Order: sequence, then structure tokens, then C-alpha cells
Amino acid sequence: MAQATFHFPRGFLWGTATSSHQVEGNNTNNNWWAWEQEPGHILHEDKSGVACDWWGGRWREDFDLASEAGQNALRFSVEWSRIQPSPTRWDHAALDRYHEMVRSLKERNMISMVTLHHFTDPIWVTEMGGWENEEIIKYFVKYTQKMVEALGDYVNLWITINEPNVLALLGYALARFPPGERDLNSLGRVFSNLVRAHAAAYQVIHKLQSTAQVGIAFNYRPVMPNRSWSPLDRLQASLQDNIFNENIPQALRTGKMGFLFWKKSLPQIKGTQDFIGLNYYSQEYTSFNLLRRQEFFSSHSYPSGATLSDTGFLANTPEGLIKAIHWALQFKIPIIITENGIENSADSLRQRYLIQHVHQLWRAVNHNHPVKGYFHWTLIDNFEWERGWTQRFGLWELDLATQTRRKRPSADLYTEICRENGLSSEMVERFAPELISSLFPG
Ligand code: BGC
Repeated sequence: MAQATFHFPRGFLWGTATSSHQVEGNNTNNNWWAWEQEPGHILHEDKSGVACDWWGGRWREDFDLASEAGQNALRFSVEWSRIQPSPTRWDHAALDRYHEMVRSLKERNMISMVTLHHFTDPIWVTEMGGWENEEIIKYFVKYTQKMVEALGDYVNLWITINEPNVLALLGYALARFPPGERDLNSLGRVFSNLVRAHAAAYQVIHKLQSTAQVGIAFNYRPVMPNRSWSPLDRLQASLQDNIFNENIPQALRTGKMGFLFWKKSLPQIKGTQDFIGLNYYSQEYTSFNLLRRQEFFSSHSYPSGATLSDTGFLANTPEGLIKAIHWALQFKIPIIITENGIENSADSLRQRYLIQHVHQLWRAVNHNHPVKGYFHWTLIDNFEWERGWTQRFGLWELDLATQTRRKRPSADLYTEICRENGLSSEMVERFAPELISSLFPG
């Protein structure tokens, strides 16, 4: 077989993504920490605890891992509850720490992509009513301004809010995230406050930094009716697509938000994205299910034949990534894959998952679609929200008790991809030989 390589454009960003609460440890002043202390919220009553001990100093070690692995970028989040422990106080030591982190990425020749909000709120924000209270917008803007002033000399790639769709739906409709509500009125308010906060933050970042590139990281999940002949399955698929995938991005495009019977005109949010961040994991089928009232009469499944992750949470469906990219083209702005990965402790599936998704990514760049980077979720096993420590997404394995990091084979594969700025037949032969004939036929 002839040797071949799928090359990526020069300057393509290759990195990993993490978030503060999942890796830092001891984030005692946010709503997730409080939520973890109450029984019944997290699987096996797991707690984030010291997590990957980044706040204890191990961020350095992990930045070294990422840099030695050939990654030229890192996406990580800053923790609002550390920076602004109360409405009237800024923690300068925390700001200095984050400054040291972005400076040290620069010293490693890596680009920082900083997420300002990744699911967690300071306790004082929760006490004010969190995302249900529009007051949050003005506080979020002040916090954003503080961060741009503090980190702007090393950062110009910003994600304002990670997965506002997931935050809103899991927190206010499905009760799996704090505050654990099931209330469609709250949901509407939260959606609107999230996009307004994003748009206001977008404006303030641009006011302070002329070179800034600002976006949101959306979780995009292609959802298809399980029985295509069933009008109820088709209705489910279209409602979910509308609320989960379309609602926020279309509102940012048109200045009008609308889902179910909830409508709002928000002209100020129109056009407030310089790029679109896509978090893509799996595509899925949905069925109408009368027995699942709590899930709004829906159940979901993965395409038959797709390999599932360890706990069945995700499936390896790489064709969904190109669908996500094709969908994102309508916004006519650059696209960055801000998360993609799979939970797989033994690393038996991840190598294949990575190769197949990078291949789909290459199909997109090969058509000159404006895809500018890829961030694998994640660098090192970390705290997986309501699923606690039951899922292992890391290129590096974490032994929580000893804080030892162990490299998984996928980390070597990803290093080769990053260094080559491409995926070669030779890599595929070594890491997933079963894919050779489909990826490199003839
Ligand atoms: C979130 C991450 C999370 C990952 C895997 C994404 O939706 O942004 O925080 O760890 O999924 O569950």
C-alpha cells in the first residue's frame, strides 16, 4: 500500500481542552462544590475534591505534558468564584496565578484559549438567583473586563460561555445540573440571560482588545428520529434539534430567540461571534416514549453497530462531526472544534475514535471549509460533573489517590498528529490497522 498523509493547513491549532472545576481542585466557593456535598446529585456521591490538583501546582506538570506532546494550543477555563469571591472583592493572588499560567503557555509557544464560564458560578451569584436573574449580566461583564485586563497581554482567543445549551437544559429542564430545576419559564429566562451575557461580554472584550477573537463553545448533537416513519419520533427529533442545537446559534445570527412558545427579540446579540466553537461527541437517535415524563417523553439511542464508550454514555459516530461542521458553515465564520473525545479507560477505543474524527476533520479542511483548530477532550482524566469520577476521557490517566499521571497510547498517537500537522497511513497502520483500507483505499 502506498504511503499517504492527510495534511492540515499551516497554523492549524492542535490542543486539548479542560475546565477549572474539573481539574483545579478545592473550588469550594462555587455552586458545583455545594451541589456535590448534597446526597443524590453525583454518581456514587463522588466529589471533585482535589481533582487534578492544578491549584496545588500540578498545572505546570500538565502544561509540560501538553507541550512535550506537540500541542500548540490549550483551552482551559478561569474560575469566576476564585477571581471574584464576593461581589465586592477581587482576588489578586488568583488573577496572578492565571496570569502565570497564560504566560507560561506563551513561553511554551502555545496559544491560550481561555473560557470565562464553564458551568460553575460563584456561590454569591447562585444566592442572587444565578442565571434566572438578569442582574448576573452586569456582574459577568465586570468579571470579563477584569479578566481581559489581567490576561489580555497573553490571550486574545476567548470563549465566553461553555455550552450554554447544556447548562440551561440540564440545570433548568432536566434537573441533572444545579440548581436542579424543571421549569420551562425559568428555562426561557436562563437562555435569554445567557446569550445577553455572552453578547455584552463580547462587546466589552472588543472594546478592550482590538485583536480579540470571541466565541461560544456549543455542544452540537445531530439528532435523528429512531423510526423515520413515526410522526412522534420525528416531532421529538425536531423539537430537540430546535431547543438544543438551533435555539442559541440562530438567536445570535438573527437577534430573535424562539423555542416552543417562548419568543424574545434580542437585537443586541445579533452577530456577536467571531468564530463558532463546536463541542462534538456523538450523534444519536431519539424516540417518543410515553413512559419517560421526566425526560419530556423521549428516550435516546445510538446507531446500531456503533461502538459505545465504557459506560455507554457516548458512541463512536465520526460522521456526525462532518455533519456538525456542515451545519456550522451557515454562520459564515471560522469554526473551531473546541471539544471532542470519548470516555475509555483502557484506551481500546480512543485511538480509533481519534483517527476517525481527525479524518472527518481533514475532509472538511480539504474542502476549504474554514476549520481552524481541534481541541481534544481531554488532557488528563478529570471530574465529570454529575457522573463524578466514573468516566475517563484523558489522553493521560490520572490515579486520583496518588496524583500519578500515566500516558495512554492515544497520547502518543495525538502527539504524532500534532507534530505532523496531519494524519498518515503509517500512523493508522500502527494505532488502528483495521481502519487502513477504509481511510486509505487502493
Ligand atoms: C463539557 C465538559 C465535559 C465533557 C464530557 C462537555 O459537554 O463541556 O465539561 O467534561 O462534555 O462529558
